[in-house]
Amino acid sequence: MVKKIRNACICGVSVAALLLTPVAISHFDDKEMAQSYRQSWFALVASNFGPMAAMMKGDMPYDESRMKEHANDLSALMSMDIMRGFADGTDKGTTRAKPGIWDNKADFTAKMDDLIEAVAALDAAAQTGDKNEIAPAFGATGKACKACHDDYKSKDYLY
Ligand code: HEC
Repeated sequence: MVKKIRNACICGVSVAALLLTPVAISHFDDKEMAQSYRQSWFALVASNFGPMAAMMKGDMPYDESRMKEHANDLSALMSMDIMRGFADGTDKGTTRAKPGIWDNKADFTAKMDDLIEAVAALDAAAQTGDKNEIAPAFGATGKACKACHDDYKSKDYLY
């Protein structure tokens, strides 16, 4: 149990370092359903990508079956319609989503598609269990996160 908690903390730090984002604070607000939906989805994405990052960086012991499970879960998340969380009129509220998303929907959607594609390749690589295959696919996925955050995610809450 103690070990588990420590691992969770390590993951949090690694994700923060990788994405240059402050520690995520997810919330559920029934007056901001879309905002809550997308933030919860990103929290789940990071909860799976984080341990993978920690294993790739050696912050956590490499565990092949755990790597496969996280890749599989990450892939399952990609089958959800995340753009529902970015519906028109949901740019306000407790959010770090920059207003530019709604002005550049096509570009934002393309960046989301890049992530979906990168995660499909990462999952395929993870299932081989070969770290040499996983490393580049992992790097490409991290780049897809960063490419979108650079343009569309604020460091702090906007409103
Ligand atoms: C296409 C754009 C896009 C991609 C790709 C993307 N993100 Fe994000 N992410 C966002 C936006 C926009 C927000 C802010 C959402 C909000 O606050 O309403 C966000 C928020 C987050 C949050 C904070 C969630 C919370 O608790 O509020 C985390 C963590 C996160 N992203 C991790 C990731 C990781 C890890 C990846 C890649 C595996 C990724 N994101 C890929 C756009 C993206």
